[in-house]
Amino acid sequence: MLTLPGLIDPHVHMREPGQTHKEDWRSGTAAALAGGFTCILAMPNTDPPVTDPASLESAEESARKRALCDYGLFLGAGEDNVETAAGLAPKTVGLKMYLDRTFGPLRLGDPGAIAAHMTNWPAQKPIVVHAEGKRIALAIQLAARLGRSVHIAHVSRKKEILLIKLSKEKGLAVTCEVTPHHLFLTKEDIPRIGAGRSEVRPKLATKADQQALWENLAVIDCFATDHAPHTIAEKDGENPPPGFPGLETALALLLGAVREGRLTMEDILKRMVDNPRRIFHLPEQVDTFIDVDFDAQWTIRGHYLQSRCEWTPFEGMPVRGKVVEVNLRGRIVYQAPDVLVQPGYGRDLFGPALPPEPIKPIPM
Ligand code: NCD
Ligand code: ZN
Repeated sequence: MLTLPGLIDPHVHMREPGQTHKEDWRSGTAAALAGGFTCILAMPNTDPPVTDPASLESAEESARKRALCDYGLFLGAGEDNVETAAGLAPKTVGLKMYLDRTFGPLRLGDPGAIAAHMTNWPAQKPIVVHAEGKRIALAIQLAARLGRSVHIAHVSRKKEILLIKLSKEKGLAVTCEVTPHHLFLTKEDIPRIGAGRSEVRPKLATKADQQALWENLAVIDCFATDHAPHTIAEKDGENPPPGFPGLETALALLLGAVREGRLTMEDILKRMVDNPRRIFHLPEQVDTFIDVDFDAQWTIRGHYLQSRCEWTPFEGMPVRGKVVEVNLRGRIVYQAPDVLVQPGYGRDLFGPALPPEPIKPIPM
């Protein structure tokens, strides 16, 4: 049995409000706990997207009522909130900019609007960019010119990781994350997974791209699942939306790499606890840890996941390493396979400070 700190996932899609048939704050944070995550950072491409006071309030309320683990909310950057986004910064973990098209309407195409957001958003609050290929260069260049940091989401290709390596060597304030699915799957897995189900942004890449990620592990600051649930019917339907669930499979896949000698436990903890905490300025979660049975053998099955989407691109894969218990702020919140706290136990790390828990009188 291994005891590890609670993991932090800086990139998840909770789907509430608006698309709770895919996931809601309860099912999504149950998936987080089952995967060993005690803190998740939620992306703003909900319906409506989180871009203004009303949509932020609605996302906060959904999370406050149903979250089982702690969380932070991202604000989405649009062309219409360039002037107002910064006013909402204190309530959020950071700003998310979509420079490429993906699931949902959020998209920032105009370099002028990108630069204006980078200028207005507080320097001490992170900006996360969904950019692919050349647009990564644009994001890094603009951030460097404006003297601010930038975090590149889900890097998947050789050219991209090499560009980020070079930028870091030049001393630019750029950090990045890579997903387990880009580390463990390639285009060659598409026939097995199925065409619709394999849709994800960034797309599954080549073996050479995958190899470049592993060869440049030192450049990767965080592992982030980009947990992006869609139902089986949607994935197998006419216009399959891009996205994979990932919260419940990440740790076992990465522990497999530890077994094979491709990663160390320190590599994992740096990228799933220390670096996300530092990059996203997250407070420490006291009395928070997970117990993992390092040897437990299991087979990944969508049907048994806590996530509402009930499918996974890793279906049928034998893995080892299972989260057996999660302690969050002094309470056992998960004992596999059961969630042991009420929805609403999770706290908004950037919300109003809550009164301390009442001290229980000692029985005489
Ligand atoms: C994400 C989603 O479904 O919200 N999809 C995906 O393929 N990763 C959006 C995103 O992160 O691009
Ligand atoms: Zn995403």
